Amino acid sequence: MSANDRKTTDQHASADGSSKSNPAAVESSVADHVADPKRRRMLVGGASVIGGLGAVSLVVPLLGSMLPSARAKAAGAPVQADLSKLVTGQLLTVEWRGKPVWVVKRTEETLKHLDEDTERLSDPASDVESQQPEYAKNTPRSIKPETLVVIGICTHLGCSPSYRPDIAPADLGADWDGGFFCPCHGSKFDLSGRVYKGVPAPTNLEVPPYRYVDDNTIIVGEDSGVAA
Ligand code: FES
Repeated sequence: MSANDRKTTDQHASADGSSKSNPAAVESSVADHVADPKRRRMLVGGASVIGGLGAVSLVVPLLGSMLPSARAKAAGAPVQADLSKLVTGQLLTVEWRGKPVWVVKRTEETLKHLDEDTERLSDPASDVESQQPEYAKNTPRSIKPETLVVIGICTHLGCSPSYRPDIAPADLGADWDGGFFCPCHGSKFDLSGRVYKGVPAPTNLEVPPYRYVDDNTIIVGEDSGVAA
């Protein structure tokens, strides 16, 4: 399994600067209205200090809002994932809202299996709307077919399933095409996170909101530029 790179996205704070104090303007205004040169110098100096303090007081809260706090991360700040080192067949885990989010680069063979034997699945067409965004309501349940992004928590009672991409292993049976197996009570999911019939888990694994920044970078917790 590759080393996992994970970092939170910057929190962009915007400010147009229109409400900031302008020391130069204050100086000019003071200078225009005081005739005595000595008194004028004193007032201009004082105005510069006051203007500078005003600028500092604006900058400090702005810097504070640009740093994602631990509380903001726990509450759901979006998480950026670098997929550049993820090779085919591997699974990368990133944490979002305290949950593991798996990114799996699927093989061509895996993608072919997703269309086979779908009658064994409880919700092959991802009709349960709560389990994925609209753009993941397709067979691979993803934006790009080869890359699955899914929350790694079993929809039965919340265990974390195991990633089992191996075909027909002895412990899972000859009809196992690769997927996720939850050892707690035996729920099985295919490599799209779709749950098999006859297991305790009621629904497919959940696909979180996400979007691509570029070919090798996704942001989990955002889609269409809006935090979920
Ligand atoms: S928690 Fe996964 S099968 Fe029960």
